Amino acid sequence: MAPAADKDLFDHVETTFPSLPPFSKAVPTAPLLRISLQKLANGDQSEEARLWDTCRDVGFFYLDMRMGDSGPVDVDGVKENEIDGNAILDEKDRLFELMKDMYALPAEEKVKYDRTAEGIYFGYKSFGRNILDKKGTRDRNEYWNVSKNDVLGDSEPQPNPDVIKEKRPLFASYVTHTHAITTLIMRILNDKLGLQPGTFAEWHRLHGPSGDQVRLIHVPPQPPDDRTLSNGEHTDFGSVTVLFNKVGGLQIRLPPGMNPIPPSDVDDPSTIGKVKYSQDGSEMTAEEDSEWAYVVPIPGHAVINLGDAMTKFSAGVLRSNIHRVISPPGAQADCERYSLVYFTRPEYDVKLRHLGAESEIIMEHLKKTGRENEVEEVYTSREWVNKMSLGRRDMTTWSHSGGKKMDNLRQGVKT
Ligand SMILES: [Fe+2]
Repeated sequence: MAPAADKDLFDHVETTFPSLPPFSKAVPTAPLLRISLQKLANGDQSEEARLWDTCRDVGFFYLDMRMGDSGPVDVDGVKENEIDGNAILDEKDRLFELMKDMYALPAEEKVKYDRTAEGIYFGYKSFGRNILDKKGTRDRNEYWNVSKNDVLGDSEPQPNPDVIKEKRPLFASYVTHTHAITTLIMRILNDKLGLQPGTFAEWHRLHGPSGDQVRLIHVPPQPPDDRTLSNGEHTDFGSVTVLFNKVGGLQIRLPPGMNPIPPSDVDDPSTIGKVKYSQDGSEMTAEEDSEWAYVVPIPGHAVINLGDAMTKFSAGVLRSNIHRVISPPGAQADCERYSLVYFTRPEYDVKLRHLGAESEIIMEHLKKTGRENEVEEVYTSREWVNKMSLGRRDMTTWSHSGGKKMDNLRQGVKT
């Protein structure tokens, strides 16, 4: 069966953001499904089926956060799980404004909040601090990781500049609203997998101690003669990621059988220009590059993707797809690019292992792929998050931070 995809995606949605040049028409784009948050919140069965399909096929989808005049939806009588897409969109706009102030701070001020030396990944990461490949190529972004448990008051406050400290209530509200979305998505996947009700919810409690965080990313325009990746190919290592951006640049490697939406105007004057796709600056072959498709930002929508933990729990029934970030195509290459990400991860003590004993669907998949007797490499979530997040800041640990041991998690073959 062909993967769930929407080849007519752009016939139905507006993709232009105020004050930004339109997304280039000259590049191939990903035919991701658009899922309605409102329908999911109301228990719409066919929307849940679309979510299930796309999480197995590609593990990436758009979530339409707009909920019209309906107001928040109470999904299970628990106030903190209330679904309010409109509030998230409003808070997202305020956090995008905040990013301009955060990144306008002097570099010497920002680096005071880099806590890598203490083994802590919350705080500031400066340009080039992460390694993208085995050759030691450096990233081209700066970002701030803001801890969920910190802003909710569950743990000691992390050191942060005033510009962030003053916005703790905004972060707390954004985290609470966004966590409710990830809880709903995981609840649907939990039930579709046939797991004991509440299994994923118990491992991802709002106040549970975990590596959950908001990441605020800034990528300045790259020099016209040196435009390339700002973040190399990777999979996310947590459970569910919620992303907002306005400027293009995110690409996913399409799974087998999923074809990109072709460029609608190859002569668009805002053509892609000279972008070097490979991390060492050499040209990638046309065949290699044809596997990649841009994820076009859509107003009112988040891009959601699953991370390695969901693939690990489901033994590959659910897909954690490879993606990367490149200099924005066309006229957007000259824009400042900001992204707002919320990462959920299993709580620190949760063991990352497959749930074959708890789910017939997962066990069937293990049998089908000849892995029912395979000995697993089991980490706790804390071990895994530390290894993956800090490992990329040092060449000696890079090769352990996501390479071969996790290759089996990246396949996500559909049952
Ligand atoms: Fe990512």
